[in-house]
Amino acid sequence: MRVAIVGATGAVGHELLKVLEGSSLRFDELLLFASPRSAGSTLMFRNQPLTVQATPDGAIDADVILASAGGSISKALAPAWVAGGAVVIDNSSAFRYDPEVPLVVPEVNGDAALTHRGIIANPNCTTAIAVVAVAPIHRQYGVKRMIVSTYQATSGAGAKGMDELLEQTRVELDGGQAQASVFAHPIPFNVIPHIDAFQDNGYTKEEMKVAWETRKIIGDDSLQISCTAVRIPTLRTHSEAITLELERPANPQAVRDLLAASAGVEVRDDPAGKLYPMPLTASGKYDVEVGRIRESLVFPGGIDLFVSGDQLLKGAALNAVQIAEYLQQKGALKARQRA
Ligand code: A2P
Repeated sequence: MRVAIVGATGAVGHELLKVLEGSSLRFDELLLFASPRSAGSTLMFRNQPLTVQATPDGAIDADVILASAGGSISKALAPAWVAGGAVVIDNSSAFRYDPEVPLVVPEVNGDAALTHRGIIANPNCTTAIAVVAVAPIHRQYGVKRMIVSTYQATSGAGAKGMDELLEQTRVELDGGQAQASVFAHPIPFNVIPHIDAFQDNGYTKEEMKVAWETRKIIGDDSLQISCTAVRIPTLRTHSEAITLELERPANPQAVRDLLAASAGVEVRDDPAGKLYPMPLTASGKYDVEVGRIRESLVFPGGIDLFVSGDQLLKGAALNAVQIAEYLQQKGALKARQRA
């Protein structure tokens, strides 16, 4: 079994290497690809240096390709990877809305992965984190409407996003004036309600991704969703304030118990003990932290909650590896015969 990472040198690629180190996925060989700029550099995997190769224009001789080099690379090359016999687990948005491409969070709709025709899409990070908490509530109580406000880390824009926060913070502390490059405005000591491009309806693409993708993963087109996505000056982990209107009334303790028994969730909810989800505690964690669970003041029987999830992990690398593990557990991942 041969696994390849395309975009191995990036923020998500770095996490893919770490997650694969501890993964139950059985494979014999790992191939690393990035842009020609990184060709010949090495990255450590299980105490061995592996050489990064320039991504070829055509097929890659691997059984599973974890793609994390952006939408244009995936769009251009994934068809050739599939034609070459690989299963592609794609982190970009290139194929997420294709009805023939499953969009998968294993805790929520793992079975959808088994229907793939070569490509499986990994959701947008904000969506992946939200659905881990919301799907169990939807199954039990039926979510009618969902209102989300996000607090998104700079690593959502890749390694260069984190670099911009660190460098520009230093500039500001030294009395200089930060110049935005990755973000629309200086990010140090600021919050920016603008992630991805504005659409005709006034929402950004990031906000619409949360609506489209949550419906597809949960499998309910009637779900009404509105999102405001905001970039904040943290390095990693996205947080989200979520309000749910429910078909059947819930009480906070029942929701706490339900989520405590749900896969991929850590309930962290003791306000008196100052215990709630935060990037500080959720970073590096596989589970999504959920807390501040309370009855909505607006929707009787509805629920307000707060989540923090490491978006480089559950929102990207971890979820991608979990999809591969799921396929292997189900006997749906086959190594090709090689000479
Ligand atoms: P490189 O480091 O050589 O530029 P991030 O999301 O953190 O910005 O990372 C993007 C990833 O995608 C990096 O591994 C980057 O490699 C890779 N990448 C960027 N452009 C290309 C390209 N044209 N072909 C293959 N990989 C690319």
